[in-house]
Amino acid sequence: MTTGRSSREHDAAPARVLERCRALVRPALVEAVGSLHPWTGEMAAYALGWSDTTGTPDSGGSQGKGVRQALAVLGAEAVGADGAEAVPGAVAVELVHTFSLLHDDIMDGDALRRQRPAVWKAYGTGPAVLAGDALLAQAVTTLAEAPSRHAATAVRCLCRTLNTLVSGQAQDLCFEHRPWYGPGAVGPEQYRAMAEHKTGALLGCAVALGAILGGAPDRTATTLERAGRHLGLAFQAVDDVLGIWGDPAVTGKPVHADLRRGKKTYPMLAALAGEGRTADELAALLDPPQPLDPEAAAHAAALVEELGGRTAALDEARRHLDTARRALHDASLTRTTAQQLDRLFTYVLDRTS
Ligand code: IPE
Ligand code: MG
Ligand code: MG
Repeated sequence: MTTGRSSREHDAAPARVLERCRALVRPALVEAVGSLHPWTGEMAAYALGWSDTTGTPDSGGSQGKGVRQALAVLGAEAVGADGAEAVPGAVAVELVHTFSLLHDDIMDGDALRRQRPAVWKAYGTGPAVLAGDALLAQAVTTLAEAPSRHAATAVRCLCRTLNTLVSGQAQDLCFEHRPWYGPGAVGPEQYRAMAEHKTGALLGCAVALGAILGGAPDRTATTLERAGRHLGLAFQAVDDVLGIWGDPAVTGKPVHADLRRGKKTYPMLAALAGEGRTADELAALLDPPQPLDPEAAAHAAALVEELGGRTAALDEARRHLDTARRALHDASLTRTTAQQLDRLFTYVLDRTS
């Protein structure tokens, strides 16, 4: 027989929390996608892992974990509201996340996402841009139409976040053309600003939207947003590591793509801050402005590891996770939900994809 305590712990297990939140949000998410034009709706369903390229339902499709929707639901529960209050916010962040990945793969030239051809590869670039636009418009619509007296505040929060996310993507793209070292090089603070904007903002928004729709005071929503942003910084540092040393069969994304395109990722910047022969060798390898060929990229990855870039990025992730957890502690939250959030934060970083 299960004791009360162990069953409570079981319910707080991150995988169970994610599953519970996905089940709560799913009908509204299906409805939102179902209200799109059939063509953009098909691409959205493909991007969400619900169907294949012929529009046939694909139960084995690689769907995301639904971290952002869960953060929204927990954001409401953490301030004592029913998780259902957060559903329009959860749908909005999930749609924005899907839109942002869809456009990101075009910008980054990545042909693979979650083990399958990226939407632009499967359907073409024009259609993929349009599907992203449709998802974005539907995200804002869903939140604006939320049957909540906090809907307008929530929409303002989402729109602020969209601007931030776009500026993070702009920083990321502009950094591709910056030198690896010397006076014009990207510094760690510039990297952090970019990562916080492109990745942290939406994670922060997810949990803040839940709190806002749950009727939390501004201060609590702001503290939760800060926690989510640090989670995002940690998440991005791990993503950077997986982009160099992850197994594509597990991550579902191409390996060394960032490196070959000259993306200014944390492991690279940390490695280039080193001195000595290995650092010089890495700098010389990165010197030609054209993209690295696969062999040179593999060699660069080995040098970055030797220079401690991988360890430094994982340390960076750990520091931000600690800050995120401290921020959770600072917000006055319902104890059981605070624990679920805390465990989810750690779980999200212990990732392979
Ligand atoms: C994606 O950043 C950020 C957004 C989609 C806004 P990355 O380009 O680093 O992420 P992956 O590695 O393609 O998932
Ligand atoms: Mg990308
Ligand atoms: Mg990108």
